[in-house]
Amino acid sequence: MAILICAPDRSNERLAQDLRTHLPKVDIRIWPDLGDADEIEFAVLWKHPQGLVKSLPKLQAISSLGAGIEHLINDPDIPKDLPVGRLAGPKLAHDMAIWLVGRVLADWLDFKHFDQSQQQGQWAPKPPHGRPVIGILGMGHMGRAAAEAFLGLGFDVIGWSASGQGPDGTVTHQGASGLDQVVSASDYLICLLPLTPHTRGILNARLFSNMPRGSVLINVGRGAHLIEEDLLEALVQHHPARAILDVFMTEPLPESHPFWSHPQITVSPHSAALTDPSEAALLLSQSYQRVMAGQAPIGLVDLERGY
Ligand code: GLV
Repeated sequence: MAILICAPDRSNERLAQDLRTHLPKVDIRIWPDLGDADEIEFAVLWKHPQGLVKSLPKLQAISSLGAGIEHLINDPDIPKDLPVGRLAGPKLAHDMAIWLVGRVLADWLDFKHFDQSQQQGQWAPKPPHGRPVIGILGMGHMGRAAAEAFLGLGFDVIGWSASGQGPDGTVTHQGASGLDQVVSASDYLICLLPLTPHTRGILNARLFSNMPRGSVLINVGRGAHLIEEDLLEALVQHHPARAILDVFMTEPLPESHPFWSHPQITVSPHSAALTDPSEAALLLSQSYQRVMAGQAPIGLVDLERGY
């Protein structure tokens, strides 16, 4: 009985150690040290090399090491009937909600203005205007946690999701006309959608033309949700007036990319919410035990649907 962790862009020692504590009888292996591949029943994958899944004949389930599953959708070797889960635990969702609240509050309260006034020795009061409407695209685990955090602060929250369902207290729309309604009513429009063929490029010129002048786009979904050139053009017209971006088409964001120095764009390095090894180890150990008991892994996804 063995679990393989393969996440070549991460250091996996801490995760493996924590997993060994939860599952002392299970052999926890870190790629590329596969050992006897016939013993590997469960794989934890993140941006794994193509061909790996084919080399694991006894695999019973896979879990993504993160909330995203594009690396799994894009792997043609994953058998259609192999159960696949993803990790979007309470801590990840909470961290994302805190980050979003922090970004929105800093922008709305214009902390930059006060930092600059202090540097210039100026006493320059500036009250925030109105109470912003927060629009959230994607009402999955993360979207709901964010919605609840903003609701808790007394903000109005509207949402858009495939099912049209969101947490109590939000008006959640669905479909193309629902998207227009959310976009045109949001002062802060947050993208927390999964990346699917339907949502790829959804943050485009058409959507921007519906955003109110002065509004702010926040993308914490995936870089491929955004058509970057369309955003640069839309910022000239001030709808949106600013963009706060944590994810990019190419990561790390290339040195020469215009987003780095754009005065209306705030860039961060795909770090709004990071998988925490302790939470991941706990969820993965539970997921593994479920699979061994003949149940579905935690966070079961439909690779065809894309989330
Ligand atoms: C991070 O982006 C994740 O998918 O967990």
